[in-house]
Amino acid sequence: MPQAKPLRSTTTGALKGAIRVPGDKSISHRSLMLGAVAVGETVIHGLLEGEDVLHTAAAMRLLGAEAERESNAAGAGVWRVRGVGLGALREPAQVLDMGNSGTAARLLIGLVAAHPITCVFTGDDSLNKRPMARVTKPLEEMGARFVGRSGGRLPLTVVGSDQLVPITYRLPVASAQVKSAIILAGLNTAGATTVIEAEPTRDHTELMLRHFGATVTTERLEDGALAVTVIGQPELTGRTIHVPADPSSAAFPAVAALLRPGSELVLNDVGMNPRRTGLYDTLVEMGADIAFENRRDQAGEPVADLRVRHSRLKGVVVPADRAPSMIDEYPVLAAAAACAEGTTVMLGLKELRVKESDRLAMVAEGLTRCGVSVEVGADDSLTVHGTGKGPKGGATVATAMDHRIAMSFLVLGMASEQPVSVDDGAFIDTSFPGFVGLMNGLGAAIVEA
Ligand code: S3P
Repeated sequence: MPQAKPLRSTTTGALKGAIRVPGDKSISHRSLMLGAVAVGETVIHGLLEGEDVLHTAAAMRLLGAEAERESNAAGAGVWRVRGVGLGALREPAQVLDMGNSGTAARLLIGLVAAHPITCVFTGDDSLNKRPMARVTKPLEEMGARFVGRSGGRLPLTVVGSDQLVPITYRLPVASAQVKSAIILAGLNTAGATTVIEAEPTRDHTELMLRHFGATVTTERLEDGALAVTVIGQPELTGRTIHVPADPSSAAFPAVAALLRPGSELVLNDVGMNPRRTGLYDTLVEMGADIAFENRRDQAGEPVADLRVRHSRLKGVVVPADRAPSMIDEYPVLAAAAACAEGTTVMLGLKELRVKESDRLAMVAEGLTRCGVSVEVGADDSLTVHGTGKGPKGGATVATAMDHRIAMSFLVLGMASEQPVSVDDGAFIDTSFPGFVGLMNGLGAAIVEA
């Protein structure tokens, strides 16, 4: 476990500049995993070199693929993955340690479940508390076997098989990770595997599988749900992938710029997949001045350059059905809401309780410490009474091994009367390596506390 790294963020003036935040975490994990089961070489530009993704790269190596980093002429990392071919992952000689990453653990459990190998998965103290039954249950229906702790937590042994049976599975929770785990198991399973989702979740697995040559179809059902079907055992061919900048990471400088008077930032190459942009829709509803410039397509994913200017924000109601498209952005939205005029109500946040931390509890507790009035509803809603300027601050906030809690409160500190500290910023490296330097380069004042 990394050593705790307390950080303090102090009110700043205007934020100015043009930056590219690191690559999309969801797309980065998937590019390494699919590259590893494709035939030939996959070349990945812009891979997120955060700890979560580096755990996936290490796991793919233990499963037999080659995954190496080179530097291009500009010094940026280019990753080359030499795949083993679908069905040919090798039994790892060591435990697969997925660190802090639920995405890495759940997707990989699905992928190896359809291989005739036995793998042991573990993670850090945060990941080992998170529910895994949501993936093991449907995978058991397909014929995979699991041996693990009671309560369906890691560490967990997966006894895979290449003789799984395809299923049709209706997701009980809106989760791209569960959907992807089943699709990735269906990939090496003869026949058609279907996942039905009532609410659309991020579709990077589907888009990237098509890019690698698999047949993945989507069909709108009579009740409005979406049925996603993968045809098993395709020939996957190595591809070139350009990973867009992560809209979930861009959210932090974007909100910071909205909150600081005089700010104007350009965030380049930000992924604009409509299943990921709920935060930006919400901020615009709150009165944010965000221009989506230069919209274009980059290897099957829409991207844009975002020009963000300081804005006076007002409170809004965020409907529950928007949650899947902004599931990771509620902590930073809560920071924006704390500075807005009026009340913001966020509905349908139950899933926040099973993220890297119980984000609903951590956000409510942290905001309260900073002098913001909040209520958590019995229906897992969060109400934030905006201060209209910035909150009092002057507190140290607990982060519970959660990178997004840490970054959100550092952003809040930039707009608070007194500095805001977080007890541990070390986990920021899981998704946003270089966060502090990048933000300080724009005008923030984040220092080791
Ligand atoms: C992710 C899906 C989401 C999200 C996570 C990344 C993915 O999780 O919170 O950060 O890459 O599929 P859930 O599927 O559990 O909602």
